[in-house]
Amino acid sequence: MMEKQMVMEWARMLMTYKFALDEVETKLTILNEELQFVQHYNPIEHIKTRIKTPESISEKLLRKGLEVTKENAVAYIRDIAGVRVTCSFSTDVYRVYEMVSRQSDVKVLELKDYIKNPKPNGYQSLHLIVEIPVFLSDRIEHVNVEIQIRTIAMDFWASLEHKIYYHFHEDMPAYLKEQLKETADMIAVLDQRMLGLNEQVKRLGSPLPSTH
Ligand code: GTP
Ligand code: MG
Repeated sequence: MMEKQMVMEWARMLMTYKFALDEVETKLTILNEELQFVQHYNPIEHIKTRIKTPESISEKLLRKGLEVTKENAVAYIRDIAGVRVTCSFSTDVYRVYEMVSRQSDVKVLELKDYIKNPKPNGYQSLHLIVEIPVFLSDRIEHVNVEIQIRTIAMDFWASLEHKIYYHFHEDMPAYLKEQLKETADMIAVLDQRMLGLNEQVKRLGSPLPSTH
């Protein structure tokens, strides 16, 4: 195939993922703003979105032993579009998950609860792959979006772990792994204590002042 045509096809595919990402981001923003308005309560602290680059899509396909084609990317890479949602409390993580997953145009294809079952390294987060319809000029495309929902504390841990992991490329010394696991356990305790604090404040009857 002519190079130019292939570039155009990939650009078109990535644009569709961007639309899906925009839709999911809007859904999340609506929920947050509505709850802020009605209950003076915002479960979401921030939302970050990203589209995988063609380079990183190709690398992932090659890692999986697959040929680098647009069709394989769509069929086998479920995190071309990714949203990371950071919440204040672990209860908010599940609340956001429930609100999104029960929307009629959202289909949950996969759910991984690394909060109830953290990864061996200590990683905690709620991951879901959803499929949502994108209405284009001449057709509807059903697009996969990966949503990662976690608390601020879990996010703090994950970003540091990510940096350390990439520094060592797989062979992280055991003593660092152990310390990371210990800090992950501390994060879980911290989240529980923050939740407890919030519950006590809520029992006092007045809402916490809004941060936004
Ligand atoms: P990928 O091939 O990376 O997509 O893994 P997977 O298909 O097994 O999915 P999983 O849900 O386990 O992880 C998806 C994403 O979650 C990763 O791309 C990271 O962004 C994040 N993630 C998963 N595990 C870790 C971890 O141990 N540390 C950090 N910092 N992030 C992680
Ligand atoms: Mg994945």
